[in-house]
Amino acid sequence: MFQPVITGTGVFTPQEVITNAELVVAFNAYADRVNAENADAIAAGKMEPVGHSNEDFIVNASGIHQRYVMNKSGVLDPAVMHPLFPKRDDDQPGIMTEMAVDACNKALAKAGVSAGEIDLVICAASNHERAYPAIAIEIQQALGAGGFGFDMNVACSSATFGIQAAADMIRSGSVKKALVVNPEICSAHLEWRDRDCHFIFGDVATATVIERKEDAKGDHFEILGTKCLTQFSNNIRNNNGFLRRTYEGAMGDQRDMQFMQNGRKVFKEVLPIVSKHILGHLAELEISPDDLTRLWLHQANKTMNDFIGKKVLGRVPEEGEQPNILQDYANTSSAGSIIAFSKYSDDLAPGDTGVICSFGAGYSVGSVVVRRG
Ligand code: COA
Repeated sequence: MFQPVITGTGVFTPQEVITNAELVVAFNAYADRVNAENADAIAAGKMEPVGHSNEDFIVNASGIHQRYVMNKSGVLDPAVMHPLFPKRDDDQPGIMTEMAVDACNKALAKAGVSAGEIDLVICAASNHERAYPAIAIEIQQALGAGGFGFDMNVACSSATFGIQAAADMIRSGSVKKALVVNPEICSAHLEWRDRDCHFIFGDVATATVIERKEDAKGDHFEILGTKCLTQFSNNIRNNNGFLRRTYEGAMGDQRDMQFMQNGRKVFKEVLPIVSKHILGHLAELEISPDDLTRLWLHQANKTMNDFIGKKVLGRVPEEGEQPNILQDYANTSSAGSIIAFSKYSDDLAPGDTGVICSFGAGYSVGSVVVRRG
């Protein structure tokens, strides 16, 4: 058996930013437009007017101040309200692959590993731009990696579930060096015309290099344990599957082909599952919450993270103990906890212990307990 360690992480951040102020102006222009177009139906009481969004609500409800996106102009055009990407031919690299390669190269450079040494690529993300061939195999080829690759989707928990899969293969000896990569184009699955959730998501890609401890060339984090849990719920759902267009009346209302959630229920139901999961995982590893230096949590909502941090540590986390990045990136699905880990882990001293934890649709929770080597 080999001890798996994380030797590098990388973050690809898109160049375009949408602030809450810009987002709200675009949404309100869209709302005014729809309300004007439907003035008669609204006056007759046959339709509810679309309400305005506002910046204070967004910050207070979520902690989000801005988000990075792969295309800003489409999202902010009240007549479009979604990202616009030029069609790519099959012989051109996919957009997810481009984002992934940037994040992977950063992670490889940090680890001091060349792409040719990688023998496993897992592309773990909430959405994949096609059914097959796997995005991971395209990334493998673009990097010049060997071995094999495959795609995984466990929604917001994809990264930690992917790390568990890779770590287990390294432990058993079936692979030597793995890349788990999470290109998340959340802007394309978000319904930007839905006031309740239009502010939630952003785009990013993260990558993590995992290898055998004896092969690590420099600073690294030992993976002390991984633990995954799922429990079925419809409270976060996207019906955009391959059978969707075969349903009777399928081409009518297509709202269900984007991200949908019952945010209030998610908030209430997921919190106890996550805090119990982390505490149970720590107990199995005989680690006391008092011995944790850091929590790198999924980045969906600041209040949620504050609650989980308090529940796990048994006190209000001190500044820096539970870093949030969602104020800048918004919810980036599976990549969120890895961005936090990547940006806020270099200062840990040898022996310091922390937990990477992601959670979301499924429901699903994945935790990875790491110790600085
Ligand atoms: N601007 C202004 N007001 C808004 C608004 C907006 N953009 N969106 C909703 N509101 C209003 C609602 O209409 C509601 O008004 P009412 O009380 O008069 O009916 C009020 O604000 C509260 O809305 P609600 O949706 O209940 O807010 P919330 O406090 O629950 O916050 C979320 C919403 C989505 C931020 C929050 O529920 C959340 O983060 N949930 C968990 C999400 C999550 O983790 N999802 C996982 C995704 S991977």
